[in-house]
Amino acid sequence: MIPDDKVREVAERLSIVEVVADYVSLRRAGANYLGLCPFHAEKTPSFNVNPAREIYHCFGCGAGGNAFSFIMKIEGLNFPEAVKLLARKVGIEIEERQLTPAEKKSQDEHVQFRRINDLTTSYYRSVLLNGQEGEPARQYLAKRSVGADISDAYQLGFAPDRRDGLAKHLKNNGVGLDIALNLGIIRKSDSGWYDLFRNRLIFPIRDARGQVIAFAGRVLDASLPKYINSPESPLYHKSSVLFGLDMALPTIRTGNSVVIVEGYFDHLALYRAGVQNVVATCGTALTGSHASLIKRHAERVYTLFDSDNAGKKATIRSMELFLEQRIPAYVISLPAGDDPDSFLAEHPSEEFAALRNKARPAFEYFVHSLLAETPPDSVDSKVRIIDDIVPRFRKIADSIERDLYEKEICRLLGITVHAFRKRIGGGNLSPHEAPINRYIPIQPADTVQDTLLTLLLNYPDARAEIERVGLESIFTDDYLELARLLLQSMAVSEDSQVLSQLVETLEKPEQKSLFSRMMVSEGYLADINWRAVLDQCTRSHEKKQLASIKDIAARLAVIDPGSDEYSLLLKQADTLRKRKSEL
Ligand code: GTP
Ligand code: MN
Repeated sequence: MIPDDKVREVAERLSIVEVVADYVSLRRAGANYLGLCPFHAEKTPSFNVNPAREIYHCFGCGAGGNAFSFIMKIEGLNFPEAVKLLARKVGIEIEERQLTPAEKKSQDEHVQFRRINDLTTSYYRSVLLNGQEGEPARQYLAKRSVGADISDAYQLGFAPDRRDGLAKHLKNNGVGLDIALNLGIIRKSDSGWYDLFRNRLIFPIRDARGQVIAFAGRVLDASLPKYINSPESPLYHKSSVLFGLDMALPTIRTGNSVVIVEGYFDHLALYRAGVQNVVATCGTALTGSHASLIKRHAERVYTLFDSDNAGKKATIRSMELFLEQRIPAYVISLPAGDDPDSFLAEHPSEEFAALRNKARPAFEYFVHSLLAETPPDSVDSKVRIIDDIVPRFRKIADSIERDLYEKEICRLLGITVHAFRKRIGGGNLSPHEAPINRYIPIQPADTVQDTLLTLLLNYPDARAEIERVGLESIFTDDYLELARLLLQSMAVSEDSQVLSQLVETLEKPEQKSLFSRMMVSEGYLADINWRAVLDQCTRSHEKKQLASIKDIAARLAVIDPGSDEYSLLLKQADTLRKRKSEL
């Protein structure tokens, strides 16, 4: 652990411009320095570094943060590693803080977990490579054309058909089996220790840094279950692990895109064919954590799921996650009956590249597969289709994209844009949808709230006024959360060093980006009459909120008057009405 005051000391000695200049050539442009963004491909510079604020922000891809987050992102490091790297740069020696007994225990345990996983990997690997016991697995791999290089890249192994081969191996290497029990790879019964995996081909599952954190085992024949995974453990949380990420990262960085598949062997097939920016989920559906992990590394994602019904469902579900996190997503479709493995076994990789080039935007794929399922040939079917589309359509963040899809949907369904907008606006929402937030229009870049936040950041008098009126009546969603954090932090210190550290505490990528954007774009507000701007902003903001009274009324008409949502909405409508009369 690095003590906080050391982190601050490093931050104080650093200049973000110097840090960034090691990677990006910068030139002065007003209050900022400007250069070509290292995190996405661009020809005209939109990467801004603000030396006074110690913040960078790219207006092209939304990346933003302070010197530490810049180093984390560009070097692929975690926070302490980035601090150490920068400490070396400014000549500060880092002595790690004494661990508390609990931290020490957990650290020791992790060291042991890692050793156990390494021993396990090499045990399975040696069974696969050497001796008679590994023969069936060697034959199996030969049958599936997995050569030595691939077997080595994945560190494949084989769990022999023995009750306690691994347990014995660990014990012989001095491992306390009670500790290994936490990883789920061995178990304990009345008659002693035994292995989880028997007679299975082993895929070690590694984290982004290449450390083995879990294992998956596939049968060599058609028996079931086809795969078993080692269970969740202190090292392994399957909903946030992407198999193969460590192998894919270099290629993801250069191409800025990633392909997601569902199976271990799908991953292997692509990797072998030279498509190396590929990751797989570990036997679970894609989750929000997966999506944000992807967002941290890539700008664009391709999903490549089976062409069957389950695959289609997974594709559409993943589209929703990507829409929510604003990651452009495309769908690669394979010919019916093929999976990536079978396709690549029969076609050269150029043909796969051709499929990828033809990948459709996920939303377009969704609309078209919906129409293929339910032809829009009656009022009834059109209504059903629209009801399916609307909740997802609302998640499209980009306004140009929304416009285009709106036109396309209306054309396909033969309805007017007006009718479609009416549907989007309110009525007939499914009762399962989140109640309140949706009535507040979420804008991808809400210029009014942008300006208000900038005022709050730069003008102490405006800040006081905003506090007096109440943040809640001015900001919504990410802006509101961010405004709260800013106020809290500024109450402690207005020092830009301290403020720029705030970026570390933001978890949502949208908020990080929003924050860095605010911090680098103070220039255009210099020398203004803040009160006039504030008044104008609050008025236009309130008007926008008032428009939603209609939506609330529509919703109230269809839900149960006894429900919590009903009374909540009623209250909201009331407040809005009162404010309207005050305007
Ligand atoms: P092959 O069929 O050998 O090509 O393997 P695959 O990896 O392509 O598997 P498949 O397409 O059948 O399934 C995709 C993924 O779903 C697998 O890689 C596993 O992660 C998961 N999976 C499939 N079957 C099972 C199972 O029986 N149990 C569990 N836990 N996961 C499974
Ligand atoms: Mn498969």
